[in-house]
Amino acid sequence: MNIDTARARLRPVSFVDVDELVHLDSDPEVMRFVSGGAPTPRAVIEDWVVPRAETERRMYGTGTWVLCDPATTAFLGWVSLRTPRHSTRAELELSYRLRRTVWGRGLATEAAFAMIAFAFDHLSTDRVFAGTVARNAPSRRVMEKLGMTLSAIHLCDDAADSAELLAIHPDRDRSEVEYEILRADWQERSLRWSSAGDLSA
Ligand SMILES: CC(C)(COP(=O)(O)OP(=O)(O)OC[C@H]1O[C@@H](n2cnc3c(N)ncnc32)[C@H](O)[C@@H]1OP(=O)(O)O)[C@@H](O)C(=O)NCCC(=O)NCCS
Repeated sequence: MNIDTARARLRPVSFVDVDELVHLDSDPEVMRFVSGGAPTPRAVIEDWVVPRAETERRMYGTGTWVLCDPATTAFLGWVSLRTPRHSTRAELELSYRLRRTVWGRGLATEAAFAMIAFAFDHLSTDRVFAGTVARNAPSRRVMEKLGMTLSAIHLCDDAADSAELLAIHPDRDRSEVEYEILRADWQERSLRWSSAGDLSA
């Protein structure tokens, strides 16, 4: 199922997107908070990333959507809703990754907003959550703009990463944060957003 936002089209990912996905994950700045900058091997995308998304789509109606420019169909990145494997809750994990050339225009927030709306309007989920490393300020800002609230902090407890070392090499801090939005919060915020006409209410 395609989903249209004000400035983008979201369509389910498929094998035709492999080259663009490889290219996206080859940008060290895009991968900085994901893998420390390391690219994702093409084989991982071909053998695991795309097949898993297609399985998710078939089994649960979730998966990964490619974010495209509606006029040119150009690949801009992706957003995803994933069913956590070992969870007994009705919950979905939200993720997003965009090309660096389109950062800072509100596109991740716009696309993630559409994903959350899809999750609560079309799937029987009670909770959408998203995680990232604590240092990923842009991603955390997206979560906050979506009305998500901080639900967990996992501090980096590696003894080798002392406070002094992390002060010199902040990129070594692997502490993680998780944000969530519950169905009731979403319904309440949606009402406020629809009456205010934007995402800043
Ligand atoms: C995270 C990501 C998807 C955001 O995409 P985007 O389209 O630029 O996001 P938006 O424009 O909707 O919002 C970004 C917000 O972060 C803010 N921001 C950007 N850099 C920031 C920084 N260093 N410190 C604090 N805030 C920052 C922006 O100002 C904006 O907030 P604002 O609207 O209040 O001004 C993009 O940076 C990305 O693809 N990163 C690599 C992959 C990644 O980290 N994915 C997430 C988790 S694994």
